[in-house]
Amino acid sequence: MTDLTAQLNIPETIKQAIRNKTVSDETIKEILSIKNPFTLYKIAEIIKRKERYEKNIIKTARFAEKRHNLMKEKISKFKDAKDNRIILSTIWDIGKRDNYAGDPNFYGNAPTQVIEQCIKRLTKQGDIVLDAMAGSGTTIDVCKILSRKVIAYDLNPTRPEILKNDSRKIPLKDDSVDLGFLHPPYLDMVKYSNSDDDLSNMSLDKFLISIKKVITEYYRVLKRNGHMCILIGDVIRDGKFLPISRRMANITEDIGFIDRGYALKLTRGSISQQMRGNILYAELLASQNLKINHDSILFFKKV
Ligand SMILES: C[S@@+](CC[C@H](N)C(=O)[O-])C[C@H]1O[C@@H](n2cnc3c(N)ncnc32)[C@H](O)[C@@H]1O
Repeated sequence: MTDLTAQLNIPETIKQAIRNKTVSDETIKEILSIKNPFTLYKIAEIIKRKERYEKNIIKTARFAEKRHNLMKEKISKFKDAKDNRIILSTIWDIGKRDNYAGDPNFYGNAPTQVIEQCIKRLTKQGDIVLDAMAGSGTTIDVCKILSRKVIAYDLNPTRPEILKNDSRKIPLKDDSVDLGFLHPPYLDMVKYSNSDDDLSNMSLDKFLISIKKVITEYYRVLKRNGHMCILIGDVIRDGKFLPISRRMANITEDIGFIDRGYALKLTRGSISQQMRGNILYAELLASQNLKINHDSILFFKKV
């Protein structure tokens, strides 16, 4: 702009006004007194540019204000999450199981805190949570504490609130549940019954076919924008690593769920593992496997 004003025959006051982006009444009078049409044309151009500049400033300010309000909302949600002790990263080192929920002696029970985290982060009070493989009912007790409604099924019910059901078919209406929590057997690591319908009695291939049916049912009964959380662990069988969590994630995506990432819950090792100690590590080393010290929590969304 300075170059242009230098080239033109413009009075000093107007040049100043242009540089400062202010046009006073006096300056306007001066502009009006200019007779040279070329100079006037150029001044008009510059003033137009200034208007555009002002409009841009207003637009930018409005945008910044909107962003500020959005950010305020985000920060307030972040503060709520902090107050509720919601873990905001992928490594869940939650320590000892909180034993107020489910049965602490049920072999293969879920860590209470894992279910709490899923429910707090992905639902609100009054929402409906489904657990179709409820085991000792950890989800039921967490839902009670957090004022969520819960529907629980299991092939081998352990308490009256859990309805007997083979969850490859779930007796619920379409789009009726806000969150699905699913904690299936880790293949045959713990046998829950002798039934052929029990996923803990199946070969890997049969297990994957059955779990696909269960997840397809979760998809059907889940409301749009509802989440499903799967708690699962990989298994080493006869020296062979079985990536159950990855296989389940692929199946779940194929069904139509959107993958929303995963967290790892650190495990400190069961009592039997602690007792086997070095022998366990020696066996794993010999078969070129690592000791699995985590469970996966896989997050999916129905859109
Ligand atoms: C890992 S346990 C769930 C533990 C539970 N989250 C808890 O905290 O106690 C897996 C459960 O899946 C159940 N199960 C196995 N096959 C099933 C099927 N076809 N339908 C429903 N439940 C089944 C077993 O009976 C077992 O209780």
